[in-house]
Amino acid sequence: MLPSCEHSCHQCPKRICLEETNKNLCLHSSCRWFLLVLILVLLPQIFLDFKYFVISNVSLASLLSDSPQHAITPETPTQGSSPDKNETCPLGRVYVYDLPPVFNNELLHNCSSLEPWSTRYCDAVLNGGFGQRAIELIGVVPERQAPAWYWTDQFMSEVIFHNKVQNYACRTLEPESATAFYIPFYAGLAVGRYLFGNHSSEERDRDCEMLLRWVQDQQYWKRSNGSDHFITLGRIAWDFHRYGPFGWGSGFINMAGMRNIIRLVIERSPWDPLEIGVPYPTGFHPRSNADILEWQRHVRTHRRTSLFCFVGGTRGAFKDDFRGRLLSYCKNESDSCRAVDCAKSRCHHGSSDILETFLASDFCLQPRGDSYTRRSMFDCMVAGSIPVLFWEQTAYDKYQGFLPEEHTSYSVFIDYKSLKNGTSIRKVLERFSSEEVRKMREKVVDLIPKIVYAKPQQGSEYIKDASDVAIEIVLRRLKKQGAD
Ligand SMILES: *[C@@H]1O[C@H](CO)[C@@H](O)[C@H](O)[C@H]1NC(C)=O
Ligand SMILES: *[C@@H]1O[C@H](CO)[C@@H](O)[C@H](O)[C@H]1NC(C)=O
Ligand SMILES: *[C@@H]1O[C@H](CO)[C@@H](O)[C@H](O)[C@H]1NC(C)=O
Ligand SMILES: *[C@@H]1O[C@H](CO)[C@@H](O)[C@H](O)[C@H]1NC(C)=O
Ligand SMILES: *[C@@H]1O[C@H](CO)[C@@H](O)[C@H](O)[C@H]1NC(C)=O
Ligand SMILES: *[C@@H]1O[C@H](CO)[C@@H](O)[C@H](O)[C@H]1NC(C)=O
Repeated sequence: MLPSCEHSCHQCPKRICLEETNKNLCLHSSCRWFLLVLILVLLPQIFLDFKYFVISNVSLASLLSDSPQHAITPETPTQGSSPDKNETCPLGRVYVYDLPPVFNNELLHNCSSLEPWSTRYCDAVLNGGFGQRAIELIGVVPERQAPAWYWTDQFMSEVIFHNKVQNYACRTLEPESATAFYIPFYAGLAVGRYLFGNHSSEERDRDCEMLLRWVQDQQYWKRSNGSDHFITLGRIAWDFHRYGPFGWGSGFINMAGMRNIIRLVIERSPWDPLEIGVPYPTGFHPRSNADILEWQRHVRTHRRTSLFCFVGGTRGAFKDDFRGRLLSYCKNESDSCRAVDCAKSRCHHGSSDILETFLASDFCLQPRGDSYTRRSMFDCMVAGSIPVLFWEQTAYDKYQGFLPEEHTSYSVFIDYKSLKNGTSIRKVLERFSSEEVRKMREKVVDLIPKIVYAKPQQGSEYIKDASDVAIEIVLRRLKKQGAD
C-alpha cells in the first residue's frame, strides 16, 4: 500500500505542488520520503512500461471555494423519441439497465466521499457530469457560445455517457427489442475512492463484484452471457487491470463476469479487443449543430501567433523528466512557443489561459503524462491546434473510429528518442508550409464533432457526437458478431 500525504499537503503553505493538465502530484516538502517509496514501488512497473500512477490533489483555491456540495442527479430517463421503424435504427437499439442507485446516483449524491480530501467531485458531477459552467471563458469563446462551455473533469465520462445513452436516438425501453444492453455503473468513481491511501484489494473490488452479481442475475444477460452488454470506464483501463491480490487498481476487467462485456474507456490497453478507446471529455458541450458550426468557424479564423505551445506541469522530482524538458525548451524558444506552466496556474479541468494558448498556436506539444494518453490532446484539438506526439501510444493505437487511420493528416509525430540526439522540435515544425499547416488544421477542425460530448437532447437538434460514434462502434460490432 502506498502511504499517502495528500492531507498534510494541502494544509501546509510550503507544499510542493506539481500540477499537470490531467493528473496532479502534490507533495509536501517534508514528504520526500514518500517520493522515494513511490519510486521504489514503481520502478519495476516503469521497466515494464506500465508506469502509471496518479495522486490527485486539490488546490487551496478549490477547497476554499463556495461550490455547491450536492450533486445533481442525471435527468430521469425519457421515452426514446424516434419512431419505431427499423430503417431509422439500422444498427439496432440500446436498452439501458435501471441499476440500483448504489451503482450510480448514490455515488453522485455522496460526491464528497469520492475524494475525501477535496471537493473536486462535488463540482465535477454537476450538470450531468459536465461540471460547473465556465462563464469565465466569455471573451475567449464568443459570448453566445459561452453556455456550451463547462469546467469538465477528465474522469466524468461514465456520468456523461449515462445521460447521453438515456437520450440516445435509438434507445429502446423494451429489452426484447434491444441489440445492445448498457450498464450505467460508475466504475471509475466507485473504484477511485479506494485507489489512494491504505485500501485493500477487497475494497477496490467490492462494488464491481456486487455489480456483476446483479447483472448476471438479469434475464437478458443469461441469454448472451453478457456479450451484447457494454459499459463505460471513466478512468484509464490500467486502473481496472489488477491481476491477483496485490498491485495497482481494481481487478474489475479481469473478473469472470466481465469476460464478454464491451467497455468504452478513455485509455484502452491495446491488447484487449473488448476495450474501445473513447475521447476524454473536454469542456465544450455544444447544444446544437449551430454551436458546432460557429465554433468551427471561430477556430478556423482565429489568429495564431505562436508556432507551437506546451501546456503542462513537470515531474521535477524525477530526474530527466520529459515534460520538464519540454517546458524548459518551450520557455527557451519563447519567440515561437507559448507555455502554460501548470505548476504556476491551475490546469486541473481547464482554464481561460489554456484555451487561449491552444487557440493562438498552430501546434501543441503532447508528451505522455503519467499514462500514455492525455486529456490535453483533445483540449488542443477542440481549439483547432495540431497535436505533436512523442509516443505513438498517446493516440495512434487508442481511438479507432474517432481519429483517422492516416495519422499524418491531423498530427505530427516526433519520436521522443530522436530529441536526445539534437532533433529540434521547432525546426521540424517550421518545415511544414503554411498550406500544409492549413490542411492539417482543417482536418482537426473537421474532427471536432466526433471528439466532443454534446448536450444530451432529443429530436431534430440531435447531434452526432463522440458518444454516438462509440455506441455505433458497439452496435456494428454486435451486428457483425450476429452475422458470423
Ligand atoms: C424490425 O426488425 C425486427 C428484428 O430485426 C424484425 O423482427 C421486425 O419484423 C422488423 N420490423 C419491420 C417493420 O421491418
Ligand atoms: C452514501 O452515503 C450514505 C450515508 O452516509 C451511505 O449510507 C451510503 O452507503 C453511501 N452510498 C455510497 C454508494 O457510497
Ligand atoms: C494499512 O491497513 C492495514 C490493514 O488494515 C494495517 O495493518 C496497516 O497498518 C495499515 N498501514 C498503514 C500505513 O496505515
Ligand atoms: C453461458 O455460460 C455458461 C457457463 O459458462 C454456459 O453453460 C452457457 O452455455 C453459456 N450460455 C451462452 C448462451 O453462451
Ligand atoms: C534552456 O535554456 C537554459 C539556459 O540557457 C539551459 O540551461 C537549458 O538546458 C535549456 N533547456 C532546453 C530544454 O534546451
Ligand atoms: C536522430 O535519431 C533519429 C532516430 O533515432 C534519426 O532518425 C535522426 O536522423 C537522428 N538525427 C540526427 C541529427 O542524428
